[in-house]
Amino acid sequence: MISRLSPRPQLRVHADADAMTRAAADAFVATAQAALAAHGRFGVALAGGGTPKPLYELLAAAPYRDRLDWSRVEVFFGDERCVPPDSPRSNYRMAHEALLSKVPLPPANVHRLRGEDEPALAALAGEQDLRHAFRRDWPRFDLVLLGIGDNGHTASLFPGCACLRERERAVCAQYVESQHEWRLTLTLPVLDAAAAVWLLADGAGKADVLAQVLDGPWQPDVLPMQYVAPAQGEYVWWLDRAAAARLSDA
Ligand code: 6PG
Repeated sequence: MISRLSPRPQLRVHADADAMTRAAADAFVATAQAALAAHGRFGVALAGGGTPKPLYELLAAAPYRDRLDWSRVEVFFGDERCVPPDSPRSNYRMAHEALLSKVPLPPANVHRLRGEDEPALAALAGEQDLRHAFRRDWPRFDLVLLGIGDNGHTASLFPGCACLRERERAVCAQYVESQHEWRLTLTLPVLDAAAAVWLLADGAGKADVLAQVLDGPWQPDVLPMQYVAPAQGEYVWWLDRAAAARLSDA
């Protein structure tokens, strides 16, 4: 059964990865400024992996760097590998090197998932940090950035994983066989509560999985990205032409 994804993301397709990154950086600043104007702070969950790194590097440099009051930006992570923060595999380390160390963010505004700790304890600590940061309400990010793996995973929500079923907690820990490592991840109810959810994907290597997610059979346990369904929020896929090449809407 071909089931069209609901809600369907808005597709913002650009000629190449650089153009996509610049457009996403412009939109990031606009989204942040709107959140600051609306409620005095901007809560963002960063994606890991390699795709968002150019965006983070662009935001860390003029003119983008100077367009935000970073003192009112709160940075969280969509997921983390269970490794120390100085590990080359750490999503925190990538973001720290590309962005967080280059903008005037108060250290208390960076909410790292503690990959170095025992996973279940790290998930609990992440949950408590989130609940405190969102004043005991359910965490509602102004923006969640996501990537997608070629197996359809997003954040650290992998095919068939236990955390896909988590509906009570905001942060979940699980061992991911395919990655041979423990992972920490925000759960689907957190992603879906966000005011904006953006997927960034570029390159021909993403074309097949994006087409499967958007236009293929409804099989979210196989393609977890299909579960992402922001209830009221903005849902955007930032793509380059190569990644969008097999999409019916593009
Ligand atoms: C991670 C990410 C993961 C990532 C995808 C895509 O910790 O690996 O959170 O969900 O976004 O695997 O990774 P690339 O951007 O490197 O293709």
